[in-house]
Amino acid sequence: MTPFTGGFAPVTDETTAFDLEVTGRIPAELNGRYLRNGPNPLSLDDPTASHLFLGEGMVHGVRLRDGRAEWYRNRWVRSARVAERLGEPPRPGPLHKNWDFAANTHVIGLAGRTFATVEAGPLPYELDYELDTVGTCDFDGGLPGGFAAHTHLDPVSGELHALAYFFGWDHHQHIVIDPKGSVTRIRDIPIADAPMLHDFALTERYVVIYDLPVTFSQAHAEKGVPLPYAWNDAHGARIGLMSRQSGEVRWVEVDPCWVFHTLNAYDDGDEVVVDVVRYPKRFVDARLDLGGLPTLDRWTIDPAAGKVRQTRLDDRPQEFPRMDERRTGRPYRYGYTSAARDLHDVLYPADGELEDLPDQAFDNTLIKHDLARGTQEQRWFGRGAYVGEPAFVASGAAEDDGYVLVLVNNETRGAADLVILSAQDFTGEPVATVHLPARVPLGFHGSWIAD
Ligand SMILES: [Fe+2]
Repeated sequence: MTPFTGGFAPVTDETTAFDLEVTGRIPAELNGRYLRNGPNPLSLDDPTASHLFLGEGMVHGVRLRDGRAEWYRNRWVRSARVAERLGEPPRPGPLHKNWDFAANTHVIGLAGRTFATVEAGPLPYELDYELDTVGTCDFDGGLPGGFAAHTHLDPVSGELHALAYFFGWDHHQHIVIDPKGSVTRIRDIPIADAPMLHDFALTERYVVIYDLPVTFSQAHAEKGVPLPYAWNDAHGARIGLMSRQSGEVRWVEVDPCWVFHTLNAYDDGDEVVVDVVRYPKRFVDARLDLGGLPTLDRWTIDPAAGKVRQTRLDDRPQEFPRMDERRTGRPYRYGYTSAARDLHDVLYPADGELEDLPDQAFDNTLIKHDLARGTQEQRWFGRGAYVGEPAFVASGAAEDDGYVLVLVNNETRGAADLVILSAQDFTGEPVATVHLPARVPLGFHGSWIAD
């Protein structure tokens, strides 16, 4: 059964709309685009509609300028297959291992360019300002293999870091791209069993690698399982601290678990603090689910002693952790996540059967974490709201002086709103709500890309 139902149901049209209706006042300092990527299969009859991670990427964008919401656009990423289905010529560009995929996981800005990204082998797709597909990109031949869905930008050096993996490799690949968009460093890190690696962390000293027991499964691949990665008890679990300077990796064992996402990480004296959304298990028997609910946890790693201390920051099920990216890799205080208890209950019911997702099934909340005080503020958007990933946009110097941008389904209108919250007035009235002309399905990650 397809997972693309309810909030995940794909849209069938590409929309362009200008001068969107706004409630409240869009801050005049927000000049740029809020973009968000997610899987949107061309047809529910397609094999790409069989797994949430495989649907063709569609990027939704809202352009804000001078206090106005200038446009909304949504565009499929034109892989050759998508272009063909839409009756268009293929876009030019290189491929890794001849693998062409309409990148569906994240969308980022780099060097004045826009990229839709995905992991596990394919190259990113470059988009133009108005979200039309330019083509695949290997950064002028700088990428030896694929790229990564998640990247981390060092706010001081301006370097973009990525960790690529591929089922045919005996290593992960660390990639550094400079602010001009040139690949400046490639390092291979030997890793056995071809594990999945969705995200990593960056500190001032280290690239933090999660080597966790979800690995490529040849048996599942031969059976035709759409995403042939599965929990593998034999693999073990460890965290690698790779020196950004020397490339030397120090491995430290942790309890088996699965991590999709990092909130942030930083060096604390000789120790390293890594905050993640952590699942007790995942991808059991090649399925996404059956692993238990995620919690926000902290690893405090003592590399000299080879020990990790694990503490719980919040035991509510939550995902999509984001923070003020001026603090990436540095000590920080605030984090933002979206909580979706009912979503998880519906997606991953106790009997393990993936069921239809009724619109009313969602109970979506954003959480602002104050990690210094150990407190949280919750903002509830109501049933049917399908709250997406919160993106923080800085305004003043203080860490939470800024805005939280999030796409929220407006059930009454049957369309999405881009809600702009004041991060310092997290539960108060939104600063502005931009009313989009179309639904935006639940998806993955996005970015505010200032002009
Ligand atoms: Fe992700």
